[in-house]
Amino acid sequence: MAVNNVLARIESVLQEERVFPPPKEFSRRARLKSLAQYRKLYKESIAAPERFWAKRAKEELVWFKRWTKVLQWQEPFAKWFAGGQINVSDNCLDRHLGTATANKAALIWEGEPAAPGKPGEERTLTYKQLHHEVCRFANVLKRNGIKAGDRVLIYLPMVPEAAIAMLACARIGAVHSVVFGGFSAQSVADRIQDSQAKLVVTADGGFRRGAVVPLKQNVDEALTLEDARGGLLAKSIEKVIVLRRASNEVQIQEGRDVWWHQELEQVDAHCPAEKMDSEAPLFILYTSGSTGKPKGILHTTAGYLLYSKLTTRYVFDLRDEDVFWCTADVGWVTGHSYVVYGPLANGATSLMYEGAPNYPEPDRFWRIVEKYGVTILYTAPTAIRAFMKWGVEWPRKHDLSSLRLLGTVGEPINPEAWIWYREHIGGNRCPIVDTWWQTETGGILITPLPGATPTKPGSATLPFFGIVPEVVDDYGRPVPPNSGGKLVIRKPWPAMLRGLWGDPHRYQQVYWGEVEHSYFTGDGSRQDKDGYYWIVGRIDDVLNVAGHRIGTAEVESALVSHQKVAEAAVVGRTDAMKGQALVAFVTVKSGVHTDGALREELRQHVAKEIGPVAKPDDIRFAEVLPKTRSGKIMRRLLKQIAAGTEIKGDTTTLEDLGVLARLSHAEE
Ligand code: WTA
Repeated sequence: MAVNNVLARIESVLQEERVFPPPKEFSRRARLKSLAQYRKLYKESIAAPERFWAKRAKEELVWFKRWTKVLQWQEPFAKWFAGGQINVSDNCLDRHLGTATANKAALIWEGEPAAPGKPGEERTLTYKQLHHEVCRFANVLKRNGIKAGDRVLIYLPMVPEAAIAMLACARIGAVHSVVFGGFSAQSVADRIQDSQAKLVVTADGGFRRGAVVPLKQNVDEALTLEDARGGLLAKSIEKVIVLRRASNEVQIQEGRDVWWHQELEQVDAHCPAEKMDSEAPLFILYTSGSTGKPKGILHTTAGYLLYSKLTTRYVFDLRDEDVFWCTADVGWVTGHSYVVYGPLANGATSLMYEGAPNYPEPDRFWRIVEKYGVTILYTAPTAIRAFMKWGVEWPRKHDLSSLRLLGTVGEPINPEAWIWYREHIGGNRCPIVDTWWQTETGGILITPLPGATPTKPGSATLPFFGIVPEVVDDYGRPVPPNSGGKLVIRKPWPAMLRGLWGDPHRYQQVYWGEVEHSYFTGDGSRQDKDGYYWIVGRIDDVLNVAGHRIGTAEVESALVSHQKVAEAAVVGRTDAMKGQALVAFVTVKSGVHTDGALREELRQHVAKEIGPVAKPDDIRFAEVLPKTRSGKIMRRLLKQIAAGTEIKGDTTTLEDLGVLARLSHAEE
């Protein structure tokens, strides 16, 4: 993976010069009030990381048994707080029970309106109530054969039960793997096979823009899918627990499927939290990589909990009275760390919304901000660009004065969107935290601290405590300021992934094999003269489409699994709304007619294989794909064709130059 393509992209990154110091009013009350304060703590955190983290682990977490060693590091394998015993659900719930937080709202949930004009359902769970529900559901899991270490696949809409199911797993030491409700039956089956999950928690259906997503039906289908040798992919599944949500019709298979509400009748609310080792697996979350198969990112207990708790508090400068709304789905890591674990560990009020930002109307978010007095809003650049397109009249209809801090995550934010967000949502009064991190990192690594860090539109600014990033060249040498390079992290941190589920070798290779003694992020970046990081985006074959990580290889293998397709290559092109869009170059088998109908058929096929988020935006048919003499598809060339830019570089190794001209012109 060469640095060249990063350099090219950096030239195009706007030379942003504006600097926004933290608003005085904000800094006055903030936990950290100046850059000097940040720098002092940061220095401490990297000079003596073990001391720094041990102090926080002692202050922040409730332990059954204190650890014996803060960090055991045998590259690339880390153990944090080894020898300790702790429980995540105990730290998110029980610890608040004897305090004033017990009767505070832990979760505020707003459902999607069943139809335009109808109000959304709403539900609030205090810490006491949430604890009660989690204990009961943990007993349901036990009743259905789940023990510590077992894997549970969670495939639910954005309802409180998703958080309840996660916390119930954590309570009894089961390992959850949440699969985003927009993924297909095939994706569910693949993840079950890889994780060897014993149980699925799902719902009859979920609401999305007024339609019902048939989740249970997808699970039923997943449980019938076979691998290439005719074996069932999901044969490890023994039980399916079904939540009634959309009341759509579902099949219940006697002996295998049980209803959530009926099971609850069989249990009480007494369920002590299991004493888990610091390094016990907490969850597996699948994410796209540069090869065909999604990777099961493994996170463990104590380090993840500490880091998600601390980042939530410092990055969002959390206060007791905040209403914190992170708009991510729990199916993504952002939902894990900043809807569920981080906020709850802090005793905060976390808001969950089930639906889309523009259903029934484009002011849905602003309605919710006004209704609940949201103080912190954390969302994705792709959503902000959509709001810009829909127009300022929608936020203007609502009183947004409760907001005091804004955040973004998931992709680079363009300065125009940043400025718009600041002005039209934040009323020029709220600081913006542009937070850079990944599924693998467990929590935010590069970010402003809102009372301390002057911000620059488009820059994620500076590293969080204990994080040592660097921008390096192809040989792993640091590059000078303003030069592009690969973003690596030099030192282990508490929330780092502990591996890929069942594949330590691939973990070593993908993350620690690219740059010596460093974690390779897959992102390109530059650092400016002030030491600020500007993340340019992925430099591997992973695309970021509307904030969703999509591996091109995964889409290619979905396309070639279609009977009419001979070969496929997928590349990204810049898209004003989604950041990046997927362009597929496809050659078909002989005799197959290529037309608009086939194009749609292929798009649907990808949706079925992976999920609607992976549908190519553009499919171009070709007689052959341009290849080098050694048979490698010339992706660089395809990217240029997809972007509609002039063809640069040496193309004499092309098998068929004529193919170029034909591909350069979009079909029809
Ligand atoms: C990108 C989401 C620029 C990046 C938490 C990373 C960002 C990938 C930012 C991880 C940001 C995330 N600025 N790029 N603030 N945040 N990214 O695993 O390319 O879904 O590698 O985790 O999103 O996506 P993931």
